[in-house]
Amino acid sequence: MNVVVIIPTFNEKGNIENLIDILEEEVFPKIKNHEMRILIADDNSPDGTAREIEKLMSKWKNLDLTTGEKKGLGAAYVRAMTYAVEKGADVMFEMDADLQHDPAKIPEFLKKMDEGYDMVIGTRYSAGGSIPKEWPFKRKMFSVLGNLLVRTILLKFSIHDWTGGYRAVKKEVFIKEKPELTDFKGYTFQVSFLNKAVRDGFRIAEVPFHFGERHVGSSKIAPMAYIIDLLKYVITASLQEKLFGPFGKFLVVGGTGFIIQAVILRAMVGVWKIDPTISNLTGAVAAIFSNFNLNNIWTFKTEKIHGLMQYLWKLFNFYATSAVGVILIQTGIIFLGDNLFGKKYYFWYFIFGTGILLIYNFTVYRLIIWRKQPHK
Ligand code: GDD
Ligand code: MN
Repeated sequence: MNVVVIIPTFNEKGNIENLIDILEEEVFPKIKNHEMRILIADDNSPDGTAREIEKLMSKWKNLDLTTGEKKGLGAAYVRAMTYAVEKGADVMFEMDADLQHDPAKIPEFLKKMDEGYDMVIGTRYSAGGSIPKEWPFKRKMFSVLGNLLVRTILLKFSIHDWTGGYRAVKKEVFIKEKPELTDFKGYTFQVSFLNKAVRDGFRIAEVPFHFGERHVGSSKIAPMAYIIDLLKYVITASLQEKLFGPFGKFLVVGGTGFIIQAVILRAMVGVWKIDPTISNLTGAVAAIFSNFNLNNIWTFKTEKIHGLMQYLWKLFNFYATSAVGVILIQTGIIFLGDNLFGKKYYFWYFIFGTGILLIYNFTVYRLIIWRKQPHK
């Protein structure tokens, strides 16, 4: 594979030559099965980082430079990744210029890529990873709590390090997500990029690493602005996912099912004078059929069921789980309530039972009927 290590720089003249030497002389010679290159993404650093790179480019033929206006870390990465993909990159690394990301870990990331993962995340918060011991308590707190907050608000706990900047990503992931990587141009880019990759089912692995101290130059993070930007992103993304994602659509489909059932019930009883029990059952059968198809073509369209046999089998499952839900869960809760606290509050048991029923149904659909498939 063609691998490009992208290093964003803003005033990193004191670090960059050192890092490039380590990559070229110590790390790349150990990697035999991939073509390794370096791309520096500099934003017209006033300290002359770019001139330094131009000098080094005559020494290292696999070293390249893209320069542009300073619009933030995320914007620099999007520009550099676009450039790298145009030049034929298959895999791109994200790596800081200040040697806080141990370059010796690169082969471990590549091994995961060879195993078929689409994105590999360097993590400081799993066993084998760490943040600098020398950091003051307050800085450690910010780092740990920030990540915990992101995981909690997004309700995604399988990834431990959302904010870090040591990663490898296949070009397919970048090409797919690029159109959406426009809103958060600063450090929040890391969280938003990863969150979209998770949403789209890309296969993601983690590699623990020790985050080192910066010895030369200074951090470019503006902590308060970063935290506000980050919270803005995770809160809106999480709300959007919950309301307009599959769960929101599932609720809308359920609402249409309710209307179908109610209309059939009233029509059969009122117009054709049919027995209400039979009418309700007919309405339920029709509503469930409609729910199944709407969920299949809309709510879970990324996991759409194909083939007649598969369709009939899943439809049967859907009827069976719907029946179990209504009879055991919803009616069961009303039955329990009636017997434990009296029949007086039956409607509250119904409301509570319906809430549990919704969670049960959604879980069954997501985990069994329209199970999320890994990205192809
Ligand atoms: N081109 C460009 N443009 N480069 C930038 C910009 C920018 O606007 N801002 C920062 N950089 C470069 C820096 O020169 C450095 O190489 C790298 O991006 C990381 O910046 P630092 O300033 O060293 O970040 P940090 O060490 O404080 O932040 C670390 O933690 C963050 C949050 O967990 C990094 O690992 C970040 O990647 C991470 O998001
Ligand atoms: Mn740094």
